[in-house]
Amino acid sequence: MGCHCKLLLAVSVGIFAIIHIVQAQPDQQGFISLDCGLPPGESPYTDPVTGLTFSSDAEFIRSGKRGEPGDTVTYIYRQYKDLRYFPDGIRNCYNLTVNKGTNYLIRAGFSYGNYDGLNVYPKFDLHVGPNMWIAVDLDNDDDREIIYMSKSNSLQICLVKTGSTIPMISTLELRPLRNDSYTTQLGPLNLIYRRAYTGNSGGFIRYPDDVFDRKWVPYNWFETNVNTTLNVTSSNPFVVPDAVSRSGISPKNVTLPLGFYMFTNHDSDKVNVYFHFAEIQTLNANDTREFDILLDGDIIHKAYSPKVLQSETKYNISPQKCGFGSCDLDLVRTQRSNLPPLINAIEAFTVLDFPYAETNPDDVAAMKNIQESYGLNIISWQGDPCVPELLKWEDLKCSYTNKSTPPRIISLDLSSHGLKGVITHAFQNLTELQKLDLSNNSLTGEVPEFLASMKSLSIINLNWNDLTGPLPKTFHDREKSGLKLTVQGNSRICADASCKVNNNQKYVLPVVASAASVLIIIAMVILILVFKKKRPTQVGCGQLIPHLQFNTCYQKVGSP
Ligand SMILES: *[C@@H]1O[C@H](CO)[C@@H](O)[C@H](O)[C@H]1NC(C)=O
Ligand SMILES: *[C@@H]1O[C@H](CO)[C@@H](O)[C@H](O)[C@H]1NC(C)=O
Ligand SMILES: *[C@@H]1O[C@H](CO)[C@@H](O)[C@H](O)[C@H]1NC(C)=O
Ligand SMILES: *[C@@H]1O[C@H](CO)[C@@H](O)[C@H](O)[C@H]1NC(C)=O
Ligand SMILES: *[C@@H]1O[C@H](CO)[C@@H](O)[C@H](O)[C@H]1NC(C)=O
Ligand SMILES: *[C@@H]1O[C@H](CO)[C@@H](O)[C@H](O)[C@H]1NC(C)=O
Ligand SMILES: *[C@@H]1O[C@H](CO)[C@@H](O)[C@H](O)[C@H]1NC(C)=O
Ligand SMILES: *[C@@H]1O[C@H](CO)[C@@H](O)[C@H](O)[C@H]1NC(C)=O
Ligand SMILES: *[C@@H]1O[C@H](CO)[C@@H](O)[C@H](O)[C@H]1NC(C)=O
Repeated sequence: MGCHCKLLLAVSVGIFAIIHIVQAQPDQQGFISLDCGLPPGESPYTDPVTGLTFSSDAEFIRSGKRGEPGDTVTYIYRQYKDLRYFPDGIRNCYNLTVNKGTNYLIRAGFSYGNYDGLNVYPKFDLHVGPNMWIAVDLDNDDDREIIYMSKSNSLQICLVKTGSTIPMISTLELRPLRNDSYTTQLGPLNLIYRRAYTGNSGGFIRYPDDVFDRKWVPYNWFETNVNTTLNVTSSNPFVVPDAVSRSGISPKNVTLPLGFYMFTNHDSDKVNVYFHFAEIQTLNANDTREFDILLDGDIIHKAYSPKVLQSETKYNISPQKCGFGSCDLDLVRTQRSNLPPLINAIEAFTVLDFPYAETNPDDVAAMKNIQESYGLNIISWQGDPCVPELLKWEDLKCSYTNKSTPPRIISLDLSSHGLKGVITHAFQNLTELQKLDLSNNSLTGEVPEFLASMKSLSIINLNWNDLTGPLPKTFHDREKSGLKLTVQGNSRICADASCKVNNNQKYVLPVVASAASVLIIIAMVILILVFKKKRPTQVGCGQLIPHLQFNTCYQKVGSP
C-alpha cells in the first residue's frame, strides 16, 4: 500500500531568518516601510537583517499610542520592537500615497507580545478603504497580506475595533508589484497561510533576495528534496527569487502524484493559486518530466514540463471555488513522463470581493479641506467618510445609491464644534449638500454669497455665531425657491445693504490707525457691542439687530 497522504500547507514551523551580509541591494523604489510606534526621533533606520529602510508611521495616522512588547519577546526584525495601539475610536486609518493602477503587496505585521499586560490576544478587522479585508485574530496570525490594485492615488488601511480588545499593529509594508503578475483584476488577493517554498535549509527568504520583498517560508516536506547550486533565471513577471527556485520536491514514491491540501475559511471562498516551477535536475536526453496541474480536480494546465533552470509560474486564470472548505492541489504525472512531478513553491490566495465604492473624491477633498480649515480633530473622521455606513464619520449624512456608486455627502452638522474664522469656501465643493448646520460656533466675517449659489442646499443654520452683515441679496431669491437660512444670534448681522457703509468704515479705520490704537478701537468696539446687546431688541431691518431671524426679516422688508 502506497502512502497517499498529502502535505498540509498549514504546517507551522520554527522560522529563522537567513542573515545576509547585505551588500549591493536592489533599490527599494516605491516601497513604503513603516515601523508602527517608532518614535519620529529614531526614524528612519536601516534594518540590519534586510537592509530595508523603515520610517515612523507618525505622519500617516492621526491617532493611536505607542506600545512596547514585553522583554521576553524575541524578534528578528527591529520593527516588531514597538507597536501602535488604538484605544480611542472604532476605526483608525493609515492614509498612504500610492500609484493608481499599480498592484501592491500590502503586508500588516503584528507582534502582540503582551504589551498591555492583559495577556489577551486582540481580535479586530482590517479594512482597505471602504471594504472589509479580513478579521484578524492575533492568537493565530502574525502577518496578513493582500495584493491589491488601488483605484486612486491614496490608500487607507484601517484597523477596526470589533469587540472588547484593542486593535494594534507593528509594521505596515507596501511593495509595488508588476501589474502583469498577480491577477487582481478579478478582486484583491488575500494570502492564505504563508508563501511556501520547498527548501530545507530552514530560512525565511525575503528582500533583498526577493526584489518584491515577498516572504517565503520553508515547510517541512516529507517528499524527496531536489536542489541545485546553479543559477535559475526568472524572466517572467513574478521574478521568483533564485533562492526559492534552487530547491524543489518530488514525490517519494515516483509513481504517485504530488498533492497538497489547502483549507479555506468559508465554503464560498474562491481561490487563486500560483505554482512556481523550474527544472533543477540534470536530465538525460531520454528523460521526460511532464505532469498535469490540478486544482480541486480541475486541470488548470495539461502536460506541463518545467523549463531547464528557468522559473515559470502557472495559475488558474479564473478564481475557483473549492469543495467543503478545502482545496486539493495535485501534480499528476502523464503517461509519457518517466520522471515524477517537481515543484519549487506555492502561493495560494482567496479572491476577495471589494464591492463598495469610495465616497465621491471631491466630497472627500472638501471634507479634508474643511477639517484643516477649522483644525477639527474628530476621532471618527478617518478613512472613507461614508462607507461602510456603520462607520461613517459622525456629524454627516450621505446618500447611497448602490454599492458601486460613490456615495455623496448630503448633510453636515458642525454645530457647537468651536469653529473659528470665516465660513470656508471648501463647503462650496460639497456640491450635493442639502443641509448645513454651523450654529453655535464663533464664526466671523460675512455670510458668503457662494452659500446661496449652492443649488442643492435647502437648509442653512448659522445661528449663534459672530457673523457680520449685510446678507447678500441672492439669499432673498433662493429663499423664494425654498432655502431656509437662519442667522439668529449673530448680533452684527443686518439684512440689507444699508449697513454696508458702517461695515466698510469698520474695516477702513484700523488700517489707518497705529497698532496701539487698533487695540483701543477693538476694546471700544467690544464695549459697544456688549452695551448694545443689553439694549432691548430693535424692530425692523437694515439696522444692527440682535437675534435676527432672517426669514422673518425679509417679510418685514416687504411689508409697509
Ligand atoms: C508506490 O505507489 C504505488 C501505487 O500506489 C504502489 O503500488 C507502490 O507499492 C508504491 N511504492 C512504494 C515503494 O511505496
Ligand atoms: C490622504 O493623503 C492624501 C495625499 O497626501 C491626501 O490628498 C488626502 O487628502 C488624504 N486623505 C485623508 C482622508 O486624509
Ligand atoms: C501596467 O503598467 C504599465 C507600466 O508600468 C502601464 O503602461 C499599464 O497601463 C499598466 N496596466 C494596467 C492594467 O494598469
Ligand atoms: C540538497 O539535496 C540534498 C540531497 O537531497 C540534501 O542532502 C541537501 O540538504 C540539500 N541542500 C539544500 C540546501 O537544500
Ligand atoms: C550566479 O549568479 C551570480 C550573480 O548573478 C554570479 O555571480 C554567479 O557567477 C552565477 N553562478 C553561476 C554558476 O552561473
Ligand atoms: C536513458 O538513458 C540513460 C543513459 O543516457 C540510461 O542509463 C537509461 O536507462 C535510459 N532510460 C530509459 C528510460 O530509457
Ligand atoms: C448602480 O447605480 C448606477 C446609477 O444608478 C447604475 O448605473 C448601476 O448600474 C447600478 N449598479 C448596480 C450593480 O446596481
Ligand atoms: C454651544 O456650544 C457650546 C460649546 O461650544 C456648548 O457647551 C453649548 O452647550 C452649545 N449650546 C447649544 C445650545 O447647543
Ligand atoms: C474645489 O474643487 C476644485 C476641483 O474640483 C478645486 O480646484 C478647488 O480648489 C476646490 N475649492 C476649494 C475651496 O477647496
